[in-house]
Amino acid sequence: MKTIHLFVIALSALLSALTPRVYAGTAAEQLAAYISLAGAPAQVARGQQLFTSRHGKEWSCSTCHTSAPSVDGKHASTGKVIAPLAPAFNPERFTDMAKTEKWFRRNCNDVMGRECSSSEKADVLAWLLTFKR
Ligand code: HEC
Repeated sequence: MKTIHLFVIALSALLSALTPRVYAGTAAEQLAAYISLAGAPAQVARGQQLFTSRHGKEWSCSTCHTSAPSVDGKHASTGKVIAPLAPAFNPERFTDMAKTEKWFRRNCNDVMGRECSSSEKADVLAWLLTFKR
């Protein structure tokens, strides 16, 4: 009995330690996670606007990813090919939250000089999900 009790305490401590982090294995789940973190619905048009405009710096997202995320992009400085960002055209996209977060952090900093908010990430991902085969 006591062991079970301790186990339950340990389990709930573990779960609450994990709660702030979001685990999501599909693009739709990651979108749902960002929407819930943002506390507001995503807006596709705002996502497209963010992605295709410059924000006071040299690059926009589309500089490397193109403004059509269904096609290959090309890195602005290394020239390396970047596979499409739209999940319908690249099933590996948005399947690993750690990877998604890493690249949002790096790329938003490069393009906007700051990290993107959960709401901005939700907007961009909602827009990327509108691209269908
Ligand atoms: C200087 C070039 C460059 C710019 C500008 C850029 N990216 Fe990227 N992005 C990359 C590279 C390189 C990768 C990683 C390689 C890959 O995943 O194919 C990547 C990966 C990503 C991923 C990872 C998706 C996944 O889960 O696989 C997301 C999301 C992303 N970029 C969003 C953005 C957004 C949003 C912007 C604009 C704020 C942006 N990128 C601007 C080069 C760029």
